[in-house]
Amino acid sequence: MTKPTAKLEIGGQEEGHEFEVLKGSVGPDVVNITSLYKDTGMFTYDPGFTSTASCESKITYIDGDEGILLHRGYPIEQLAEHGDFLETCYLLLYGELPTKAQKEDFDYRVTHHTMVHEQMNRFFTGFRRDAHPMAVMCGVVGAMSAFYHDSTDISDPHQRMVASLRMIAKMPTIAAMAYKYHVGQPFVYPKNELGYAANFLHMCFAVPCEEYKVNPVLARAMERIFILHADHEQNASTSTVRLAGSSGANPFACIAAGIACLWGPAHGGANEAALNMLDEIGSVDRIPEFIDRAKDKNDPFRLMGFGHRVYKNYDPRAKIMQKTCHEVLSELGIKDDPQLDIAMELERIALTDEYFIEKKLYPNIDFYSGITLKALGFPTTMFTVLFALARTVGWIAQWKEMIEDPKQKIGRPRQLYTGATQRDYVPIAKR
Ligand code: CMC
Repeated sequence: MTKPTAKLEIGGQEEGHEFEVLKGSVGPDVVNITSLYKDTGMFTYDPGFTSTASCESKITYIDGDEGILLHRGYPIEQLAEHGDFLETCYLLLYGELPTKAQKEDFDYRVTHHTMVHEQMNRFFTGFRRDAHPMAVMCGVVGAMSAFYHDSTDISDPHQRMVASLRMIAKMPTIAAMAYKYHVGQPFVYPKNELGYAANFLHMCFAVPCEEYKVNPVLARAMERIFILHADHEQNASTSTVRLAGSSGANPFACIAAGIACLWGPAHGGANEAALNMLDEIGSVDRIPEFIDRAKDKNDPFRLMGFGHRVYKNYDPRAKIMQKTCHEVLSELGIKDDPQLDIAMELERIALTDEYFIEKKLYPNIDFYSGITLKALGFPTTMFTVLFALARTVGWIAQWKEMIEDPKQKIGRPRQLYTGATQRDYVPIAKR
């Protein structure tokens, strides 16, 4: 059978150029244009990479039109319903679900890396008390390469795995420390008898002066939030991690770069922004005013927690998040939450409004995660930190995949230059 090709005809040139078409296991085919510049002297132009596959990957698949999200082939709904977060971590890192023995060994290895170097405490105290926890996360995670220099040798597969486990294990400890520092309470050491999410909740909400028992319903909800955020193929922060890592930078530096990218309100910062927006709306009767603003081309206002670059259908994670949100509110006996009332009504209106239907703007995961995290007791400034904690495994799995890909090269996009052409320097006295 002949291999499929794509032909490019450029005006003024007699012969067209042929490029091979590559097939994935599922999803759109891609045109391999790696020889385009050599063959034609031209680049492609695709700001925002809306039509560009930047790499080959076997980790996560999204069908945005159908609202499907698969990790290594397994639907996110099944992983969130039946497994725990460390199982999803194992799956993302190793490619298969673990056997019972593999799971026990993996849990043990992660659990015994949860403490951070004692000297890191002092690193935290160098920050202002009112520093945003995401700013603290960028700094502290970047600094991990100074504390764990032995696992920065990216050419050693064993050290790559050690760095990966360290990162997954220590991220909850670092995130909890960022929270404790923010609220002015003493740091709480990890407790290895607890599960991953329960341990995190304990480090955040326990204080040395009294016993703190983790509520299993809330720990399960936290676990599910982590699973839902674990990976999302080549999004902005993951692409940032891959690009940073393509130069051979150490994994801690790459993850710090990913955290910095995630902080933006169009990405992970949307959960914080969504809750702030619900506060700004204030009451159900003001919703139409904000819907009108979201539709107004001259108003930069957007409904935070709505829309997605890839999903043009209901984000499958948002559905699970909505259910988890209700479970948490019911466990905590929160019946009348004004933010939830506004959120429900906003969702109802947006799903029936012509503008949102036509543009396929559905609620995304951040719409419900904010309300849930607030009910769990986290301040809005911590929301994106929790996203970063959970996404760390995805970043690390994608980084490892890239390092282990023989086709890997340093990322170096080109540009369409529209600036001044060559001109002579004018001495300052003559300008
Ligand atoms: N409210 C109102 N209008 C919107 C919204 C929104 N939330 N999102 C997109 N639109 C409109 C936009 O104005 C544009 O209209 P037109 O075609 O008339 O110019 C059209 O929909 C397409 O928007 P776009 O900005 O070209 O789409 P994009 O794929 O570049 O942006 C997005 C995706 C997620 C950045 C955007 O939908 C957005 O800003 N949403 C709000 C922020 C948010 O919730 N982000 C979380 C994303 S999910 C988690 C994550 O990735 O971290």
